[in-house]
Amino acid sequence: LSSIRVDVGGVEPGTQITVKWLGKPVFIRRRTEAEMESANSVDVSTLPDPIARNENIDGTAPATDANRGLLPPGAEPGTDSEWLVMMGVCTHLGCVPLGDGAGEFGGWFCPCHGSHYDTAGRIRKGPAPTNLPVPIASFDDESTIILG
Ligand code: FES
Repeated sequence: LSSIRVDVGGVEPGTQITVKWLGKPVFIRRRTEAEMESANSVDVSTLPDPIARNENIDGTAPATDANRGLLPPGAEPGTDSEWLVMMGVCTHLGCVPLGDGAGEFGGWFCPCHGSHYDTAGRIRKGPAPTNLPVPIASFDDESTIILG
């Protein structure tokens, strides 16, 4: 796998960037407190897909907000992070979802067939079977994310 470095120093809370990696879009969002609170207010067992789908952790880990986020340098392991890094590919048939608070759950919305993802990128409504996947990613320093 080829890795890339992404400068996220200019990404303000409540905004996101999209980068291309391995020919696919990757969403990198710096979430607001309200977005994280919204994601944390859900009972994971009621989610259509209760699995985190995060390649950086155990494949059976539950889809809590903390298990979806990417921790910045120095953060306590297991804590919640404002940073969310996900493949920008709908898990239904591969369209690119719209972001910046789109859809009924304030996260992402796929206009192809109406899949709604929440502020943690978890599928909440519509035909998509699973949460938006979190790829291998890490912070190199506080303003640089490495994908892959
Ligand atoms: Fe996204 Fe069908 S491809 S809902």
